[in-house]
Amino acid sequence: MTDHYAVFGQPISHSKSPRIHQFFAAQTGQDLSYTAKEVAPGQFGDSVRAFFDEGGKGLNCTVPLKELAFAFADQTTARAQRAKAVNTLALQNDGSVLGDNTDGCGLVTDLTVNHALTLAGTRILILGAGGAGRGIIGPLLDQAPKKLVIANRTVEKAVDLAKEFDNPIVNGCGFADLKGQEFAIILNATSTSLSGQLPPLPEGVLAGQGVCYDLAYGNQPTAFVRWGWANNAVKSLDGLGMLVEQAAEAFFIWRGVRPQTQTLIEQLNTERGILIVS
Ligand code: ATR
Repeated sequence: MTDHYAVFGQPISHSKSPRIHQFFAAQTGQDLSYTAKEVAPGQFGDSVRAFFDEGGKGLNCTVPLKELAFAFADQTTARAQRAKAVNTLALQNDGSVLGDNTDGCGLVTDLTVNHALTLAGTRILILGAGGAGRGIIGPLLDQAPKKLVIANRTVEKAVDLAKEFDNPIVNGCGFADLKGQEFAIILNATSTSLSGQLPPLPEGVLAGQGVCYDLAYGNQPTAFVRWGWANNAVKSLDGLGMLVEQAAEAFFIWRGVRPQTQTLIEQLNTERGILIVS
């Protein structure tokens, strides 16, 4: 019997998730369907209930629904609680709905496995203190960096977010406070890429041999990926790998089978015809 899955979000028409999960299903021989549905925040609860009532087995939730999905879930995993957001809902055998968050884990897998980077002992800078930034902090801390700084336009949000993690290596600040500091890895978790803008980064903030990573992705290099190139990043990457890896982790939660991601990442990179892989 075919099991049904879907991604809910707004907007959703450009989502690559159906393609990714159908690829994983074919690769692992799993009988499932996966569709995308535009769902406004105000319809979220009703749409999710209807989906599971009609026999759906699992959902991905994307912008702007992740906080609503966290509130909806009957139980949540520790990593969803740290993120205060859920991107994966899974129907359990007892009929309850489990909420998990695979975004941060997807990012860490892309960095450490696909790009063979070591995060332990490094100085990491996160740009942005919104939902995307919050979601990656816990999994990054698990990698034991030396320092994790959150910089945000609204300084207070970065300071408050850093405090939540109650860890002496985590600090929040404004962009101007980064002057004179150097980081081996800079992650862009602001929404600036969507409008082709950049956070105001002081010169010299990327260390020699440093790596840039934009959580956003597109068919063209984002402004932040270009900033990385212009600032001699040894790698300047976008979030396509993270997207595929968070999907692989969701697939594993639902099906108990871990798909291979490399072929698909290569295929998606070839199709968009640009090289943001190094
Ligand atoms: P998300 O959930 O995707 O992270 P969000 O909660 O709306 O989205 O947060 C967007 C992030 O991008 C915030 O950190 C925001 O900074 P503020 O908290 O000061 O609003 C940041 N951002 C958006 N536009 C920006 C810009 N032009 N320059 C710098 N940061 C920007």
